[in-house]
Amino acid sequence: MNTTLRWILGSASALALAATVSVAGATPPTADIAPPKPATPVVDKGAEVYTATCAKCHGTDGKGDTKIGQKAKEQGKNWPDLTAQKTAADKVKAIITDGVADTGMKPYKDKLSAEEIDAVAKYVIGLRK
Ligand code: HEC
Repeated sequence: MNTTLRWILGSASALALAATVSVAGATPPTADIAPPKPATPVVDKGAEVYTATCAKCHGTDGKGDTKIGQKAKEQGKNWPDLTAQKTAADKVKAIITDGVADTGMKPYKDKLSAEEIDAVAKYVIGLRK
């Protein structure tokens, strides 16, 4: 092999090496890549509101078999089983909004947003058998 050829081959491999390095350099290291964001969980606002606000009286299943419910029934008070109600959807919303006078069912218009009342009304209707 003559010197010129050796020089050409040497330069070619040096260039190839340089090219590889710069290509590798263009790709950010894996550690710098932000992990994919978890998909936004589907939150049922109605279920959330119900669990936080209503379940202590109406029960997680809506049947009203709660401590407070049993006590009220022993006292002869009306204690609804939400899964057995046939109240129209707009009436359900009105009951949650304005409550039922002189009962444990208080108005929620100052405690929940219109959006939350809407969601929890839908949720409660969804508990029906
Ligand atoms: C302190 C206990 C208590 C809490 C808390 C409560 N309720 Fe009630 N709820 C009652 C009682 C008692 C009644 C029955 C009122 C009556 O005698 O008409 C009732 C009635 C209802 C009714 C009417 C049922 C029907 O169709 O006739 C709906 C709907 C209802 N509640 C939904 C809710 C929702 C939604 C929440 C939470 C935002 C909630 N309640 C919180 C005690 C409660």
